[in-house]
Amino acid sequence: MLSLSACGRDARSPAARGGGPPPNAATETKAKMTTHFLAASVMLDALVRGDLDGYHGAAAVIAAEGEHGPPWSRSTSVREVAKRAGEATTVRAAADAVAELGVVCGDCHRSQGGPKLDIGAPPSAVATGSLRMARHRWAAETMWQGLMQPSDAAWKTGSEVFANAPLVLDAVAADEPMPKQLEAFTLAARASATAREASSAMDAGDRRRLFGELYTTCAGCHALAKQH
Ligand code: HEC
Ligand code: HEC
Repeated sequence: MLSLSACGRDARSPAARGGGPPPNAATETKAKMTTHFLAASVMLDALVRGDLDGYHGAAAVIAAEGEHGPPWSRSTSVREVAKRAGEATTVRAAADAVAELGVVCGDCHRSQGGPKLDIGAPPSAVATGSLRMARHRWAAETMWQGLMQPSDAAWKTGSEVFANAPLVLDAVAADEPMPKQLEAFTLAARASATAREASSAMDAGDRRRLFGELYTTCAGCHALAKQH
């Protein structure tokens, strides 16, 4: 441990760089911006785990950005929505706020240019065990890309894959008592139906509503899976 941190310090010292040029300033700015952009992903991850404290913390980072932050700091609506997100006390309100945030990010990107991230291909549909779960995770992340880039292709592919992804662990389906099984299947049906509706939604307002509805289902089902 001790030697690891000493090593880290050395790596950044001029001697360790062999007296070469200092790190590229543009690269550093880019890395800093990416860290800031990550705040929205941290909000989503926390929401999906049902961790409202973590969600509030990341929302506060966005709400507090000043003029020298990432491009979103130039947008009062981004800061306002992030501030509202910081006050969300239910999963539903938190999901709606992050959906609204995604639309506001997308509005600016549409007019001023923004990320064009490649969504790649979904994980295999024939995977077994917990790997089966990778598919809905990929799908949900791809829908977020669709909302905030914005990208019709990412939105449509993400929602189609989500609608058809398996959501209930075989183990839960097999050994859990009836009420828990029922709850898991009910949530799965609601999530799939929402994603199916999303796959044909073209309007940003509809997408925002459906994204909020879909992200309201995540934490509840994960709590069930964890109890298992
Ligand atoms: C006021 C306009 C504006 C807003 C609002 C905005 N962005 Fe951007 N964003 C840009 C521009 C312009 C770029 C491309 C140029 C750049 O990277 O500086 C960009 C680039 C990005 C990138 C790619 C960065 C990279 O390293 O390639 C990501 C990711 C991103 N934005 C995410 C977001 C998220 C998430 C939000 C909402 C919380 C958001 N943006 C809000 C203007 C905005
Ligand atoms: C009906 C049930 C159900 C719903 C709804 C659901 N999930 Fe999951 N999810 C699961 C199960 C089961 C796992 C696996 C948990 C485990 O292995 O402990 C999982 C795991 C995950 C993981 C972790 C996977 C990994 O690779 O570590 C992520 C991320 C995730 N889900 C995202 C989402 C998002 C985002 C939503 C909502 C848009 C969502 N899930 C909705 C059942 C669900």
